[in-house]
Amino acid sequence: MRVVTGIPEMKALAGEWKAAGRTIGFVPTMGYLHEGHLSLVRASKERCEATVVSIFVNPAQFGPSEDFQRYPRDLAKDSATLEREGVDVLFVPAAEAVYPPGYKTYVEVRDLQDRLCGRTRPGHFRGVATIVLKLFNIVRPDVAFFGAKDAQQTVTIEKMARDLDLDVEIAVCPVVREPDGLAMSSRNVYLSPDERAAARVLSKSLAEAERLIREGERDASRVAARVKDIIAGEPLARLDYAEIVEAGTLEPVAEVRGDTLILLAVYIGRTRLIDNLRARVEEISSC
Ligand code: PAJ
Repeated sequence: MRVVTGIPEMKALAGEWKAAGRTIGFVPTMGYLHEGHLSLVRASKERCEATVVSIFVNPAQFGPSEDFQRYPRDLAKDSATLEREGVDVLFVPAAEAVYPPGYKTYVEVRDLQDRLCGRTRPGHFRGVATIVLKLFNIVRPDVAFFGAKDAQQTVTIEKMARDLDLDVEIAVCPVVREPDGLAMSSRNVYLSPDERAAARVLSKSLAEAERLIREGERDASRVAARVKDIIAGEPLARLDYAEIVEAGTLEPVAEVRGDTLILLAVYIGRTRLIDNLRARVEEISSC
C-alpha cells in the first residue's frame, strides 16, 4: 500500500491509472476505522481495479463547539488495517494543503443541507459537500462508496453529483452494526459503559418502528411517536429529532408509503448519535 500525503502526487497517480484505463474506487473517511468503513473498502475492492481510501478529519464540517479537537485518531492502526485489506493507496492530505490560507470556495446543497442534522449542525453539510467534491477532483474515482448509516450525507452527495454533472457513481452500502444493534461509529468510543448500554435505544426504537410498519401502520406521526416514546424511556438519552421523510428529498411525509427513511439523532450523555431505517412499502394498487 502506498501512503500519499501530497495532493499533486495523488493527482498524478490518479492520472496514470486513468490513462491506463484502470477503474478507481474511492472511500472517503475521517479515520479511526471500524467494520462499517471496511465494508466500503471491501465493496470497492470487489468492483474496482484500484482502491483509494482517504483519511482526513475535515475541520470545515465541525461546528465551533463540536468535537474536532477530540475526534478519535489512530493513523498507525488505520494504516495497518488498510494494508491488510489490500488497499492500493491511503491518501492522508494535510489540512494546510486542503484549506490553504485565503481559501474561499464552498459547495452548498441547498435545502437538503438545512434539514434534520443540518438544524443542529449548521454548516456541517456545506463542509461535507466541499471536502467530498475536492477529494473527487483529486482522486477522480469512477465509483465512490458511502455508508447508509449517514443517510442525509448520502442523499446530499448524490444530489451534488447529479446537480454538478460529476462523472462518479455514488454507491451506498448497508449500515454495519454491533451485535446488539448499535450502528458502528468512530464516536461510539466516547460512550461510558452505562452510555454504551443506553445507546441500544436507537436501534431498538427503529426495530419497533419496523415492526409497526410491517404490521400495517401507515400513519407517520404514530410511528414517530412510538419511536420518541421509546427514546424518552431511556434516562441517559435525549432526543434531537426523530422524523419520517421521503428518501430522495428528505421531505417529511404524513404516510409511510413508497420509499421512506426514519431518521434519528439522539444525545447519549454528551455524545450525539444518529441512526436510520429505510422503509420501502410497496403498494398493490387495485382498479
Ligand atoms: P466517517 O464518519 O469516517 O465515515 C466514512 C464513511 O463510512 C461514510 O460514508 C459513512 O457513512 C461510512 N460509515 C460509517 N459508519 C458506518 C456503518 N456503521 N456502516 C456503514 N457505513 C458506515 O462520513 C464521514 O466520515 C465524512 O463526513 C466524510 C464523508 C469522510 C467527509 O469528511
